[in-house]
Amino acid sequence: MSSFVEAPATHSPATQPAASAIAALRALRDELGETAVLIGDAVPERNCNDWSTQPPQRPLAVVRPVDAAGVSAALKACRAAGLAVVPQGGLTGLCGGARPEPGWVVISLERMVGVEEIDADACTMTVRAGTPLESVQRAAADAGLYFALDLGSRGSCAIGGNLSTNAGGNRVIRYGMARELVLGLEWVLPDGTVVTSLNKMLKNNAGYDLKHLFIGSEGTLGIITRIVLRLHSQPGCTMSALCALPDYNSVKRLLGAARRGLGPLLSAFEVMWPDYWQVVTERVGVRSPVTGGHGHYVLVEAQGTDATIDGPRFQQWLEALLDEGLLSDAAVAQSLADTQAFWGLRDACAEFFSALGPHISYDVGLAVRDMHAFATRCKAALAAAIPGCDSVYYGHIGDGNLHLVSWVPGLSVEQQPKRAMDEVIYGLVRDFKGSISAEHGIGTTKKPYLGHARSPEEIALMRTLKAALDPLGLLNPGKVI
Ligand code: LAC
Ligand code: ZN
Repeated sequence: MSSFVEAPATHSPATQPAASAIAALRALRDELGETAVLIGDAVPERNCNDWSTQPPQRPLAVVRPVDAAGVSAALKACRAAGLAVVPQGGLTGLCGGARPEPGWVVISLERMVGVEEIDADACTMTVRAGTPLESVQRAAADAGLYFALDLGSRGSCAIGGNLSTNAGGNRVIRYGMARELVLGLEWVLPDGTVVTSLNKMLKNNAGYDLKHLFIGSEGTLGIITRIVLRLHSQPGCTMSALCALPDYNSVKRLLGAARRGLGPLLSAFEVMWPDYWQVVTERVGVRSPVTGGHGHYVLVEAQGTDATIDGPRFQQWLEALLDEGLLSDAAVAQSLADTQAFWGLRDACAEFFSALGPHISYDVGLAVRDMHAFATRCKAALAAAIPGCDSVYYGHIGDGNLHLVSWVPGLSVEQQPKRAMDEVIYGLVRDFKGSISAEHGIGTTKKPYLGHARSPEEIALMRTLKAALDPLGLLNPGKVI
């Protein structure tokens, strides 16, 4: 029997904030307006968590500025009152980077939305950081241009959050990650200094490229408020095929053939293992465009300029691969509906909660050549270490990014043995010299394993930068490092 005796409930400082903190927040409310600062019980439920599978945490207040000056005022007020701050965008992060702690102040960019300018000559868009990704994509399309970043949560995630995690997604193989799609940035430093660096030029090498410090640092060094995005021309046509292959060696050969044969047109190379395929076709109920069971399934997409030229070329490229026996089977999209159906197989992972129940998602970085060995060893190691644990594998293989989802059927999300899963998965990542985060970030959930993917010297330099920019340690403390 346990000798642990539960202590009587006490009021921690978090539940009983200092009167001076409340006074500071009320003064901020007087400055920014009634609806800009929500204190205590007025804090909305949605600001208490992100999409990471952790319990919600109620912050002391939510500040919702409309511009960089408002963010600056909020940071200055919180700094003077000694309050920790967490920036929030669309809250779709999976690693806890936007999750508050009790007693913290949320600075939400939800009211900082909208496109300020599209410059067709420079091929840029200047946009406020709280704008949803899908609105950015749509605004670019309305101007006859294209914003290439795309990921499943496009309708909910905010572009500022995409930058703070240096999001990847589906078309990295052609256009790069979020970082590659940014030319200029405005951010607010922890002391409230607004740095406006809204560069539009592709080439600007006047000293340090400071924006890159704030992209991918998960809101620990500053708060991004405005962005100059790089746009591309709208693809004139999109070709896609769903390929079935006998083994991973064939997948690697297909990737090489796609790089050579499709060249710069290659825009996605998404690989699905048979365990993933089975869940998607049998449990989620998405129709398979190929018959029979295969070793791997690959969604290949190419974006061209002219359907009458690029369409037949794509078809010929694929037929040659079928003729030489590299592919076991393939279906080529004949319509937009076909393309959407192919992507439906890949996007079906968004339905995993209803198909599998509570599960834990991972996004590991690995050398392309190691992916299958990793997946095979990981599946066996998880099953051996955790009774009943199942896992499925898929990902942006051309980018060196494997996703996996693991779960023990019948357990709630809190009951899932995440710690044991982490140990197995991140231990293997270290053995394979991979990365614990290919695209979802570190937040709090992966922080204990940062040393599996970064050297002590790299981590020390991260800490030096954090201390230089946030000496009081009040901006998103305890995240990443
Ligand atoms: C995807 C998300 C999980 O690629 O990153 O589906
Ligand atoms: Zn992904």
